[in-house]
Amino acid sequence: MILLVNHDPVSRSQLRERIAAVCPPGMEVVAAASTEEALGVLYTLREQHRPVELVIAIQGMPGIPGGRFLEIVNAQFPGVGKILLSDTPSLDEAISALNNAGLDKYIPTPWDPEDVKFTITALLRQREMKLLNEKLLADLQVRNSQLTTALGNLEQARSDMEHSYIQTVESLAIALEAKDRYTAGHSQRVSKFARLIARSLGLPKEEVSIVAQVALLHDIGKIGMMDKILNKPSNLTPEEREAIKSHPVIGAQILMPVSTFSKHVAGIKHHHEMYDGSGYPDRLKGKDIPLHARIVCLADAFDAMTSTRPYRVGLPMEFAIQEMRKMAGIQFCPECVEAFIRVLKTVGVAGEEPADAAPSEDASGPFRDVDLPTGT
Ligand SMILES: [Fe+2]
Repeated sequence: MILLVNHDPVSRSQLRERIAAVCPPGMEVVAAASTEEALGVLYTLREQHRPVELVIAIQGMPGIPGGRFLEIVNAQFPGVGKILLSDTPSLDEAISALNNAGLDKYIPTPWDPEDVKFTITALLRQREMKLLNEKLLADLQVRNSQLTTALGNLEQARSDMEHSYIQTVESLAIALEAKDRYTAGHSQRVSKFARLIARSLGLPKEEVSIVAQVALLHDIGKIGMMDKILNKPSNLTPEEREAIKSHPVIGAQILMPVSTFSKHVAGIKHHHEMYDGSGYPDRLKGKDIPLHARIVCLADAFDAMTSTRPYRVGLPMEFAIQEMRKMAGIQFCPECVEAFIRVLKTVGVAGEEPADAAPSEDASGPFRDVDLPTGT
């Protein structure tokens, strides 16, 4: 809607016709004979939630002049377009109106019909674009907010899924301990030894924790193996032996889907590699074997040597130290061996099983396949 304020009936009528002629379809033109009447119209329309796009006022109105009236409009009805048609043009008047009334256009007499027409058309178009932009921006903000919420939900779902997967893996590790009756508590002890070695090597705290977790989960790949193989009291067939030897790769495959375990996978996959390249699954050699795997390999072997199992008594720690030294550079990483022996000779393995029992007949050779059941 456009509001025209002009006290002169003839001029008002002519202007109204010209304005109506350039208005887009549906745009109503309302005329008021005084500024007081015009203010009344504006307040009424606001109460009726009918938007006024443009107010056009004549400067030389009796009572409140057009410029002052538009200052009131500017203060009371922000956002409404304003044109002042001056019948007493002066530079001071123009500057004052532009500054104080937030005028969109100051048109001095003689009012060129083409100028009035062009100004109204341009202002209406400008306002239309502005409203469209505001609407688009509001829509964009709503979409952005919806997207942010959706991303948050997605992240929460991913986090929940990963947390659930981690809990499942931890449950599997516990289940594995229960399943392999020969190695109860083995993973926890290996984890403790691996932590001691990692600390002795001077690894950062965060990496020591990862090494301990790798050690705890190092045999998780055995979870899918049949109990009759894992707990077989007699010698394994070549096929059974090969099946068990696949557990590092299976373990890596179990952990691979979870980003939390991205730093654990290599240590698990290669914990049966030998320093001289004779291990499995990839026959990696020396320092090509990931450090976490070399640490876990040593911790794993140490526990296999020193822990007492149903089928043999654990070796004394001093004997295990001799064996580790003998196999340094062959089975074990020499640096890991020295780091571990340094710890064992200073703080020992406090809290672990006593390792001073006499060795049994079959306890002398568990190095090559420390996780395999007896006789492998
Ligand atoms: Fe293993």
